[in-house]
Amino acid sequence: MSQPTPQISKKRVLSEVPTLPLVAPSILAADFGRIGEECQAVLKAGADLLHLDVMDGHFVPNLTMGPDMITGVRRHCPETFLDVHLMVSQPGMYVEPFAKAGTDLFTFHIEAAIVDQTGFDPVELAHQIHEHGMCAGIAINPPTDLDHILPILEHFDLVLVMSIMPGFSGQSFKPEVLQNVRTIASHLKPSQRIEMDGGIVPSNAASCIEAGCDVLAAASAIYKSDDYANAIHSLRHAASP
Ligand code: DX5
Ligand code: ZN
Repeated sequence: MSQPTPQISKKRVLSEVPTLPLVAPSILAADFGRIGEECQAVLKAGADLLHLDVMDGHFVPNLTMGPDMITGVRRHCPETFLDVHLMVSQPGMYVEPFAKAGTDLFTFHIEAAIVDQTGFDPVELAHQIHEHGMCAGIAINPPTDLDHILPILEHFDLVLVMSIMPGFSGQSFKPEVLQNVRTIASHLKPSQRIEMDGGIVPSNAASCIEAGCDVLAAASAIYKSDDYANAIHSLRHAASP
């Protein structure tokens, strides 16, 4: 196995088309009692960025972390690109606190806008995120109609395609979302990324990459493995000959 690749400069993480997919360990499956060490361990093992799952107990039936956790991870990993995935009902409430905490990419769910009765506009929220100096991501769940996001893709730096229903790590990958990735990929510019999230393991990572994903978020496949470097390498090179 080759040596872990050095971390990419934060500014270039999303803007450049990566030659190999970026691997984003989700700390949801890490040991929360040793979170700083767990972040450093995957970075040392070759991770390109960190994926942090924020859940509010309302949009999804689980509670995880808030801006203080991002502040702590930022302090521990000052040069690392922090990909924050918000599974929350009113994401607009959190733009400022997460920007202050050191978030690089603020991703919210289109489903939060669809059900929101207060008229929150996802494009307006993308602008707000950019005004706060962060990249903007839009996430979509497996059953949601792509027509909700296709007309607004130009406003986002990244599309996060869920391959499970959000809420918990350790679920099985839903292969039917690969067709969504192909459709989204055909609408994006080279400066926009597609991230897949949920149930990714080396045996399905190749199909994600071939469909057009260039960022792979994985919790269990990395943090439940005995060898983080090998797990990250296997995901990154899943589609390599
Ligand atoms: C689920 C989270 C995912 C999760 C992935 O709601 O958004 O990022 O941590 O976990 P695995 O890779 O175990 O499916
Ligand atoms: Zn996630």
